[in-house]
Amino acid sequence: ATLHSAPGTAARPEMPSRNIEIGVSTPTVADLKKHLALATDQWQANFCVVPLAHPRYWRDHRRPRAEQFTRSDLVLDSNAWCRLVVGKLSPWIRLDSADEALRKQSEAAFKQEVAWAAHLNVPAVMLPPVGSDAVNYAHCVNQALLSAPHIQFWVRVPITHPPQSTAEAAGGDEDGSSGTGAWASWNRLRCLCEHAPNLGVSLELGADLPDDEAELERWLGEPLRAVVTPAVAYLTNKRGYPTLSRRHQAALARLLQHKPRLLVSGRADAHSEGLGAHVQYLRYLVSQRLAPSQQERYEAPYYDFLQAPLQPLQDNLESQTYETFEKDPVKYERYERAVYLYLCQRHQPGGEPAVVMVVGAGRGPLVAATLRASAASGRRVRAFAVEKNPNAVVTLRGRCATEAGWDAVTVVPGDMREWEAPVLADLLVSELLGSWGDNELSPECLDGAQRYLKPGGASIPTDYTSYVAPLSSSRLWNEVKHFKDLAHFETQYVVKVHNAYPMCAPQPCFVFTHPSDARTVAEIGAIDNSRVAQLSFDVPLGGELHGFIGYFHSTLWDDGSEAVHISTEPSTESVGMFSWFPLFIPLRTPVLVPEGGRVEAAFWRNASRHRVWYEWALTEPQPSPIHNPNGRSYHIGL
Ligand SMILES: C[S@@+](CC[C@H](N)C(=O)[O-])C[C@H]1O[C@@H](n2cnc3c(N)ncnc32)[C@H](O)[C@@H]1O
Repeated sequence: ATLHSAPGTAARPEMPSRNIEIGVSTPTVADLKKHLALATDQWQANFCVVPLAHPRYWRDHRRPRAEQFTRSDLVLDSNAWCRLVVGKLSPWIRLDSADEALRKQSEAAFKQEVAWAAHLNVPAVMLPPVGSDAVNYAHCVNQALLSAPHIQFWVRVPITHPPQSTAEAAGGDEDGSSGTGAWASWNRLRCLCEHAPNLGVSLELGADLPDDEAELERWLGEPLRAVVTPAVAYLTNKRGYPTLSRRHQAALARLLQHKPRLLVSGRADAHSEGLGAHVQYLRYLVSQRLAPSQQERYEAPYYDFLQAPLQPLQDNLESQTYETFEKDPVKYERYERAVYLYLCQRHQPGGEPAVVMVVGAGRGPLVAATLRASAASGRRVRAFAVEKNPNAVVTLRGRCATEAGWDAVTVVPGDMREWEAPVLADLLVSELLGSWGDNELSPECLDGAQRYLKPGGASIPTDYTSYVAPLSSSRLWNEVKHFKDLAHFETQYVVKVHNAYPMCAPQPCFVFTHPSDARTVAEIGAIDNSRVAQLSFDVPLGGELHGFIGYFHSTLWDDGSEAVHISTEPSTESVGMFSWFPLFIPLRTPVLVPEGGRVEAAFWRNASRHRVWYEWALTEPQPSPIHNPNGRSYHIGL
């Protein structure tokens, strides 16, 4: 299993705050100080979106004017600027205007306002919606992203509606500003800006929402910084207060999983209580979210946090890691059921004890599960606990000395592949699975242990299959890019994937079954654990492909009438099991998959005497380089 930071990765991150900030955005702000007091004290908002320049200040770069283009920074102290204010660009700016004079004027104003925002140290600048051919807009934004890396830039994206007026479409063409077109325009901007980490989306839920639910899901893979609900999209309840339709509420609940800021936009007189009634309503919706389950609370700090996969043979797990695994409410119960079914099927009550070898016993939870299954089935068991981690062996020996029923257990310190067992086993029980099934070398370890399995003997698990699906997640891709080297793009990561959009259902990749007939060293040496899979995925909605997400499914035991599984693959997922996070398999370069398009990819599992490594490549919609050739960037040592 894989739920821990492997050495060399960062420490476990902090639990993210559950608070969701709610802001207000009004078209004009006459007196900033008063406005902030109104918004934060009366309306109870956490922040305000404020025009950076005076709305009536029409700048002509050819004829500089004497008066200032905006209020002085002395209006607020720096703490207030950087906590309470998000800057908004002037709505008249037209960076792609065919009128050269207007375009130049717009460019100058854009630069001036971004420089002013950087001077004020506001956390974010709201950019107007982008049109589908807004290439000069992208050029200006790209320069701003690089020159002010500490500022977040939020592009307004109306999820369905085109901008309400031409004045709002800074990018020119309006067709690209709604529905799939809005996503395509955003994607084009993001690509032109080289996936800059400080470029994000401010998604606007207008009065109408997209008919296709998947359209909303696709935004879950995007850097969603804010969700805007315009005051005009609200309904009025019997008491005259603003509410959102059920569909809006459901959409918001889905988006809230990503903890974006919420924003109400509209006139300050939208309601007799100003925008305060809307803020209060949003706060109510936020408070109505279901309290996170124990599993969610446990997993939340790991959301989108990349962990290097385990080196199972080189590294020894720590006490705390074993302890965490052992709390899994599903895994051990399934193993116990599997051993129980095996014993009932293959052994008789009162008969000779079944020789059960738990290989990779850790601190003994599978031994305990075996002993419980033995008691429940009335079949006697002679158990061996084989473990290579000397620290876990201390625990195993301690349990033998103190726990009831453990006198039937023999502890064997050492590597299961090298042990010369005194007897042959009826059953091997193991859990050596990684996030992608075979990627913690379960096949190689179990092949080695097979030397001491009786002919006709059994293994729990009997099989495991890795699964893979195309994934859109600019967040994860940017996390990898952050390392600034090729090797990290040729590494696979264990990660609780969160800010991501799996573009279609996963498909099986590599299958392993145990045991095989091989028993002698020579036969076992001849087992071929290399694999290749060429997969083809239909992607209904299209999107930006950043890599793949990997899962596994394992049959622990199938006696013909009942099959026991553990799985992280979504369609068969073992709900509540938390010992494994998915695997992220990145691509060096993101690739646009068109609507109704196809992703074709190849995956290789390579095994040599001393190591195992994976290679992968995209072949459709365009070929990528083969990643990690010869395991040059990442391998698992044997
Ligand atoms: C994922 S842990 C599972 C521990 C325990 N069986 C459980 O289910 O909680 C895998 C264990 O197998 C051990 N292990 C891995 N490869 C091994 C090998 N070749 N020989 C012996 N032990 C091994 C590791 O040290 C670790 O304790």
